[in-house]
Amino acid sequence: FAAVDVIRAKRDGGVLSEAQIDWVVDAYTRGQVADEQMSALAMAILLRGMTGPEIARWTAAMIASGDRLDLSAVNRPTADKHSTGGVGDKITLPLTPLVAACGAAVPQLSGRGLGHTGGTLDKLESIPGWRASLTNDEFIGQLRDVGAVICAAGDRLAPADRKLYALRDVTGTVEAIPLIASSIMSKKIAEGTGALVLDVKVGSGAFMKSVDDARELARTMVDLGTAHGVRTVALLTDMSTPLGRTVGNAVEVTESVEVLAGGGPADVVELTLALAREMLTAAGLPDADPEAALRDGRAMDAWRTMIRAQGGDPDAPAPRANETEQVRAESDGVLSGLDAYRIGIAGWRLGAGRARKEDPVSAAAGVVLHKKPGDPVRAGEVLYELRADDPARIPAAREEAAAAVTISDTWSGGTPLMLERIA
Ligand code: URA
Repeated sequence: FAAVDVIRAKRDGGVLSEAQIDWVVDAYTRGQVADEQMSALAMAILLRGMTGPEIARWTAAMIASGDRLDLSAVNRPTADKHSTGGVGDKITLPLTPLVAACGAAVPQLSGRGLGHTGGTLDKLESIPGWRASLTNDEFIGQLRDVGAVICAAGDRLAPADRKLYALRDVTGTVEAIPLIASSIMSKKIAEGTGALVLDVKVGSGAFMKSVDDARELARTMVDLGTAHGVRTVALLTDMSTPLGRTVGNAVEVTESVEVLAGGGPADVVELTLALAREMLTAAGLPDADPEAALRDGRAMDAWRTMIRAQGGDPDAPAPRANETEQVRAESDGVLSGLDAYRIGIAGWRLGAGRARKEDPVSAAAGVVLHKKPGDPVRAGEVLYELRADDPARIPAAREEAAAAVTISDTWSGGTPLMLERIA
């Protein structure tokens, strides 16, 4: 094959053959197809789309670019969750130990934040001593002994995706459903999980701004998982406003620990329990009772064991930001809007996120929400707090966060959290 012929075929709206797909993904991974050629092909895919069989083959080729882990030594049913990303979406933190406490093993390979969405590994790294990198043997050993691991993916997990995602990020080709679905699912299938629950976010703070696009992405991913023998279910959930009351790193860990202690914000608890039930059912444990595991301390015990197993101190005090600014309401009314995207950008400006992959993040930076949509507010009451290590970061965040807030006289109800289930 010649790369230019594969590019031309897709550019002109054709269907790529299985042999063309296998070749181009493999040759790109080995450096024999150049970045500029893969960029052109990614753009052609974005503009022309892919058929179901093309997406399935592309995903299989990405899995085959590395190793597929074998988790049979774990001796428990395995279930994982993937969220397409949002603002204040710390659900992996309480969910992983909760599901482990109910009898399944959770092999969570997670990522770092980029742009306005946070990354699970960045959040956990705010815990002193906690280590994101494990060898395959450590990963499988911890899954067997603790039942819960959250760590970085190794180099051999879908290396084609690692290369391609970095390229898409700088060529305006992230937003293609075939490329997003194959990217996410190649990693989740290669990690070896038996069951997978997808939390597909919809709204301003999500990749997918409309329910129709989110549904199409969810359907594509569920079909890919099922075709590879992974019991896969998707929930479409709202991301028009942040989840919970914290957006950042350490502040999200603190809120997650509140949930594990049986408290925490209602929306975080609701979503954590809904995803836990789906994961346990897909893992063949439909009678497990995650609510009881939150109540009786088993989920908290699993969290502490999981954090310690990766070198972290679950009792370490949360880092404090040098600078905190409280923003107060100027008028009475009801908080009728709190835009997830703008709050995500505010957290990013404060230092909780990164602009480039290499940048460090601040553990203590973030936004703490004192009011959520539907809450009555009185003039002078604190709406939210901005926290940063560097005071120079506050003004840009202040402007972004202020634009996120709408205060009205009346409240007609927000978008429900749980939108749809796709199996
Ligand atoms: N997350 C991924 O892992 N891949 C994508 O393409 C988009 C989001």
